[in-house]
Amino acid sequence: MGLAIELDGLRALVTGSGQGVGLGIARTLAAAGAEVVINDLSDERATAAADAIRAEGGKVVTSCFDVTRYDVVETAVKQLGGVDVLVNNAGNAGGVGWPGMKPFAETEPADWEPFLRVNLYGVMNCVRAALPHMIAKGYGRIVTIVSDAGRIGESHMGAYCAAKAGAAGLTRGVAREVGRHGITVNNISLGTMRTPMSEGMWSNPDNQQAKALLRQYMIRRPGDPSDPAGLTAYLASPMASWITGQTFPVNGGYSVGQ
Ligand SMILES: NC(=O)c1ccc[n+]([C@@H]2O[C@H](COP(=O)([O-])OP(=O)(O)OC[C@H]3O[C@@H](n4cnc5c(N)ncnc54)[C@H](O)[C@@H]3O)[C@@H](O)[C@H]2O)c1
Repeated sequence: MGLAIELDGLRALVTGSGQGVGLGIARTLAAAGAEVVINDLSDERATAAADAIRAEGGKVVTSCFDVTRYDVVETAVKQLGGVDVLVNNAGNAGGVGWPGMKPFAETEPADWEPFLRVNLYGVMNCVRAALPHMIAKGYGRIVTIVSDAGRIGESHMGAYCAAKAGAAGLTRGVAREVGRHGITVNNISLGTMRTPMSEGMWSNPDNQQAKALLRQYMIRRPGDPSDPAGLTAYLASPMASWITGQTFPVNGGYSVGQ
């Protein structure tokens, strides 16, 4: 007899799941039986992601909206009839050359906006829109993808660190409010991943930044989108009903917990 994570009968919205980490999570949730809602800014990416999951036998629909706009988020979640599982994954990790990646003392307030809008307000918008449906149902699972940059700190990414730390704080506050409704709220804090966003760095064998980064990881490879996917599926399942308000590092041993 095997142990399986069962998400049959649950609808799971994964934001920013047209590629990268979100797509890895969406594939795994679908494989566990959830009906997955692929969200992205890009229709093309969302459609391709949904086609791939359908080809693997998963149940999937698309819902393309911008998580930074509360009005459209609320409308989309209402049109879906609510979701049982919300994975807040949409983010801009600040790839190499991203404007605003510089010492904080050299930034302007306008540089902070793109990071705060997606990584903090985007999460707040989705959580706010999803909660009334979850409360009415008496079941909900929220998993927010945050970053070791916000948990531990990373130079030249001050606004991104602030946004991710803010999103992690939202999790803890909301978890306290909604546990009595059967809703859990947790964070997964990622180390450096290999996704389309960072592909340029990893595909260049001479990239010194990539080499220096890997020396800090006990498991000497960047994270793959499949790495946080199994934990997300578990946290999304009824099995994880007594785990809430927590932050779980998935980071190849970049940091050591106590
Ligand atoms: N890549 C890393 O090294 C790394 C490290 C730590 C944390 N993270 C976090 O993991 C998550 C996923 O990162 P990734 O590397 O897969 O990124 P990615 O850029 O490869 O993919 C992100 C997807 O989100 C979508 N998106 C962006 N803004 C959106 C918006 N406003 N509304 C809806 N969709 C939007 C994009 O179109 C894209 O398809 C992000 O929250 C990121 O901050 C990534």
